[in-house]
Amino acid sequence: MFNKLALKIGLLFFVFIILIESVLFLILYVNYVEERVEEVMSNLLARGNTHSEVLEDSFESSTLNHVAMMESASDFIVIITDAEGNELTHSDTIEPEMRDVLQHTDFGQVPQKGEIVEDRWDEKRFIATDSPITVAGEHRGHVFMFAETNHIKGIVEHLRNQFLFVGLIAFGLTIAAIFILSRLITLPLIRMKEATEQLSEGNNEVSLHLDRNDELGELANAINTLSTDLNRLKQARNEFLASISHELRTPLTYIKGYADIAGRPDTSDDERREYIDIIREETTHLTELIRQLFELAQLDHNQFSIRKEQVSINRLFRSVAGLVRPAFDEKHIFLVVQCPPDMTAFIDPERFQQVLLNVLDNARKYSPEGTVVTLLAVQEEDTVVISVSDEGEGIPEAALPFVFERLYRVDKSRSRQHGGSGLGLAIAKEIVESHSGQISIQSKQSKGTTVRIELTRGDSFAESAVGGR
Ligand SMILES: Nc1ncnc2c1ncn2[C@@H]1O[C@H](COP(=O)(O)OP(=O)(O)OP(=O)(O)O)[C@@H](O)[C@H]1O
Ligand SMILES: [Mg+2]
Repeated sequence: MFNKLALKIGLLFFVFIILIESVLFLILYVNYVEERVEEVMSNLLARGNTHSEVLEDSFESSTLNHVAMMESASDFIVIITDAEGNELTHSDTIEPEMRDVLQHTDFGQVPQKGEIVEDRWDEKRFIATDSPITVAGEHRGHVFMFAETNHIKGIVEHLRNQFLFVGLIAFGLTIAAIFILSRLITLPLIRMKEATEQLSEGNNEVSLHLDRNDELGELANAINTLSTDLNRLKQARNEFLASISHELRTPLTYIKGYADIAGRPDTSDDERREYIDIIREETTHLTELIRQLFELAQLDHNQFSIRKEQVSINRLFRSVAGLVRPAFDEKHIFLVVQCPPDMTAFIDPERFQQVLLNVLDNARKYSPEGTVVTLLAVQEEDTVVISVSDEGEGIPEAALPFVFERLYRVDKSRSRQHGGSGLGLAIAKEIVESHSGQISIQSKQSKGTTVRIELTRGDSFAESAVGGR
């Protein structure tokens, strides 16, 4: 029930309370006890002085007896001596400790106004004062007053008991605090720990219902989100693996089939050559697929480094256009390239070339002959916007949200004929996002498609300003 964290916090709490209590007690103890002792002593001295004053007025045996009688009814004890220390009278029975005081008094040395002669209240049974009796300038005797120290000791003991009592209360409070803390803080933490353990064991269906809006509630929500994300990822991974194995199996089946036919003795040389061509084509396609998959895996694990530099968009466009133009010409598609001459961005040119190649490749593949594809760059307030528009077949609205997913193709049979594997846009998206940019696609069926790439100023201009100067 009492778990470690609660115990630690509770003990800390306890130590603090005891520390505060001790300091308070010490201050109280020292001041209060001193004050009380002082008070008792000065009272005693004042009483002795009063007696000595009375005796100075009339130093006679009747007055002496009167004083002794008065004190015998009080809590104090008086002993009156002559100037040499011989007892003249006393109120109560004289205890040996009182005698000690008398014996240790130096009767040759007369105190001026009366003084405290024994103040060790914690060691002795009595405290004592000595008031001189001086009649007409002549020293005649002493009034010794004694008070029992029991009273003071009682006060101190009372204080000590109170201290213990408060300590006990602190202890009780600590146990209560530990209990409450373990309910409020550590139990939820333990539940979350168990949930994360379940997550790591592969059980993705954990749900924590912590109905609170503090940090612990946020943590629980984060764990819930993590669990759903993990679930989604696991599902996506399974689907992806299924798609990959499908993608690999299909060309392999073709290759095996054609290889079988080519291997038959009754196949003519012409046919054999044709089949071998098909096999070569399929292997090329397979190699490309595997290369792309590998690239995606690297992108996923951030295993490739992006080497950003100040790149002239104009020059990048020209080199990309040079690469794709033969394929565009072959299909009689007109490629228009527009870009302000001095436009630059802070990007990795090789990776970005790959993005543009992938997007342009789509525009070409999914557009009929005689159409126009436009590669355009414009500078909007704090962004560079690169767009590729075509007048091709377009993408059905229902398919638009998925085109950036791996291995997704709108029309599997048709894009197989184009040799696509559904990885081009996924790779483009990874690269753009690793530049902190955004890629989006807009399309109208049988009207055309536009892919828009946005690079924010934060990542291109600001850095390019630093990098450029
Ligand atoms: N410009 C476009 N016009 C019409 N459809 C498009 C266009 N661009 C992409 N698509 C659709 O989106 C799908 C996904 O595109 P993506 O580039 O990721 O894969 P792919 O072109 O099929 O294969 P890969 O690029 O890996 O060779 C394509 O199969 C195609 O159906
Ligand atoms: Mg493509």
